[in-house]
Amino acid sequence: MHVVVTGASSGIGEAIAREYLARGANVTLVARRKEHLERIAAAGAERAHVVVADLADAEAAWAWIDGAENALGPIDVLVNNAGIQIVKHATETDWAAAERLLHLDLHVPLRLTTLVLRRMIPRGTGTIVDVASMAAIAPTPGMYFYNAAKAGLAAASEGLRAEVKKHGVHVVTVYPGPVTSELEAAGRAAYEDAAATRNVPTGTPEVLARLVADAVAKKRPRVIYPRTYGFARHFPNATRWALDRLTPPLKG
Ligand SMILES: NC(=O)c1ccc[n+]([C@@H]2O[C@H](COP(=O)([O-])OP(=O)(O)OC[C@H]3O[C@@H](n4cnc5c(N)ncnc54)[C@H](OP(=O)(O)O)[C@@H]3O)[C@@H](O)[C@H]2O)c1
Repeated sequence: MHVVVTGASSGIGEAIAREYLARGANVTLVARRKEHLERIAAAGAERAHVVVADLADAEAAWAWIDGAENALGPIDVLVNNAGIQIVKHATETDWAAAERLLHLDLHVPLRLTTLVLRRMIPRGTGTIVDVASMAAIAPTPGMYFYNAAKAGLAAASEGLRAEVKKHGVHVVTVYPGPVTSELEAAGRAAYEDAAATRNVPTGTPEVLARLVADAVAKKRPRVIYPRTYGFARHFPNATRWALDRLTPPLKG
C-alpha cells in the first residue's frame, strides 16, 4: 500500500506518516522542512519517499506525483493534511496571507484530490483522506479565513464520497478538535487566557493517526477526535451558541 501524507513534517501529518510506516506501508512524505521529513522517513528506510515541496507554489504543488508513483507504486491513499491557520481579527489580516491560507487549506487539497482521483478511478480503488477541522462544523470566532477554508474542504469531502463510491474509491473526512501541535499551540496563544478554554479536551496526534488509519482500513466515512466533540455534529447550533459566548477575546 502506498500512502501519501502532505504536511508530514510535524504534528498530525507526522503521526499519520509514522503510523503507516509502523503498519508496513510505503509512505511518501510531503512538506517543506527537509530535515524533519528525512528524520521521520528513516523509520521506513526504502519504504519511505521524501518530497520537499512548498505546496503553496503552483508549480511545486503537483510536480511530485509522478516521481512518488515511480518510487513507491500507484497511490492508494492520499492524506490531504498540510495546513496553516490564522487567528486574528478578520479586518486586520493581511490579504496576501489570507489568500495563501485559502490556497493551501482549500485549493491545494481539492486540486491534489482531482489529480490523484484520475489515477485511482481507472484502477477502481483508492482512498482520499481530508483533514478538515471542527471549525468546519463549529466555526470559531477569530478564525475567519480558516473557518471558510475548512468548511469548504469538509463540504467538498463529504459530497465526494457518494460520487466516487461506484468507482471503488472511498473518502474519509477528518474533524480534529484541539490536538497538540505547533499549529494548535500558536492558535491557543493568540487568545487571552480564559478559564472556559484552558481545560478543553485536547487530543494527541498519535491517537488521531491510529483512528485515521483504522477509518481508512474499515471504510468509515469520518473521524471526529477527541470524541467529546462528536456532539457538535449533531447539535451544531448549540455548539455555535456556546463557542460565541465562551471563546476568549483575541489578544491585542
Ligand atoms: N492541531 C489541531 O488542533 C488541529 C485541529 C483541527 C485541524 N487541524 C488540521 O490538521 C492539519 C495538520 O495540522 P497540525 O496541527 O499537525 O499542525 P502543524 O504541526 O503545524 O503541521 C502542519 C503541516 O503542514 C505543513 N505545511 C504548512 N505549510 C506548507 C506548505 N506551504 N507546503 C507544504 N507543507 C506545508 C507543515 O510542514 P512544513 O512547515 O515543513 O512545510 C506541517 O508538516 C492542518 O490541516 C490543520 O488545519 C489541526
